[in-house]
Amino acid sequence: MKVADIRGLSLNRATQDAADAFDQILDDLYHYRLKVPDAVDGLISSHPGFLLAHVLKGYMVMTEAMKSKIALASEHLDKATALSKDASRREKLHIEALRCWIKGDLGKRFDAWESILSEWPHDLLAYRQLTGNLFWAGDKRRQLNAAAQLVGHWKEGTPGYGLFIGPLAFAMEEMGQYETAEKYARTALEINSSDLWSLHALAHVLEMQGRVREGDDTLTAASGVLNNYNLFRGHLWWHLGLFRFAQGKFQEVLDLIDNEIYPSSSSFYLDVQNGASMLARLEFQGVDVGDRWRRLAEASLHSATEHTIWFTGPHHAMNLAHTGKTNELTKMIQELRFDAKNGSHQAWLAAEISIAVQDYHRGDYQIVLTRMMPMRYEQASLGASHAQQDVFYQYLVMAALNVGKLELVRTLLKERISVRVRNESEWQNYRMLAERIDNIYNASDVAMSLRHGL
Ligand SMILES: [Fe+2]
Repeated sequence: MKVADIRGLSLNRATQDAADAFDQILDDLYHYRLKVPDAVDGLISSHPGFLLAHVLKGYMVMTEAMKSKIALASEHLDKATALSKDASRREKLHIEALRCWIKGDLGKRFDAWESILSEWPHDLLAYRQLTGNLFWAGDKRRQLNAAAQLVGHWKEGTPGYGLFIGPLAFAMEEMGQYETAEKYARTALEINSSDLWSLHALAHVLEMQGRVREGDDTLTAASGVLNNYNLFRGHLWWHLGLFRFAQGKFQEVLDLIDNEIYPSSSSFYLDVQNGASMLARLEFQGVDVGDRWRRLAEASLHSATEHTIWFTGPHHAMNLAHTGKTNELTKMIQELRFDAKNGSHQAWLAAEISIAVQDYHRGDYQIVLTRMMPMRYEQASLGASHAQQDVFYQYLVMAALNVGKLELVRTLLKERISVRVRNESEWQNYRMLAERIDNIYNASDVAMSLRHGL
């Protein structure tokens, strides 16, 4: 009997029980529910011949973005390959994507997922991998294209419609299409109010449009359930922290760091990014963050050279520089340069920004400007969102302020917010903010401008 998933995609060597479990796991994965890794392990142990379960496990392991985990992903690639004799072309393309990912051939990995989706537009496994990894690759236009070109194949009644439009909404937001992004994010939340990715897309829209109170209210309303979900929840708490930060509620932000964003040492890449960038923002406001950098540095000491999402690197640099771990920071930069020599442009960007972070904390502000000014338009290629990338702009602004270059401070502050201008009303708002920035003459005005962010 031919077995298929809930959207009608055939699954070789799977029973209907296994297909049903696979559907549930994909739903849980998209919703960041707890215990997905246990469910995948359970599926593999009860159905060891189910090819896509091994691919899924390989993808999940690679998503942890740790060099030390690549061997485990390879084991599942080998198992999937051994099962592929009678596999479908779709399944073989998934194996190809995993193989390319493990080998570091990231472009061909994207090609494989795009090939799957061009023929099987309801393949939510490929869709998630493609859109998520394009985000970390810094290719936002391709990320939006990957989602938008499928729209004709997804109707409201298609099983998992909300799972399709959440990533579409987020990709639209990152390309500045705020109104449509908000519409799709809210539709997804109507389908499932606990759709964390769509809530996240909505939070980004509110952040980019400066709707601070609305953002605070929206995430505060969700805060009662956030901890029912996996580690991605920390990033939602970080977004709530950004809205509180914009209101100058710094003690509340510190409490959020201690209780939710980075309560204990964690080397999960998003936790490292969230914790470090929030502490850096607070320090630029003159807030004493106590010994919290030490908590983050504990994780950096054993994971700074491990991460393969290169955007994490400069955050490790912040942690290590703040705690005087010069040797470890130098080692991480050397490792990034080694990866850069092997062809990773992102590793080169991460190395350059990490060096600039190190220089900043040595007090070499002019060197920071010399290094970072020419590459400031390029740093988006390091991946992550506009909101996440903003911390690098904050470093540049503060370096310029520290060497007394107020004209440059004003220029950078205007550049930083110009990314949000997409229509007439945003233009009017930008004009007002730009005029205000042109009249900045002291450090406290700079801090205020950085608070009222993007
Ligand atoms: Fe985000």
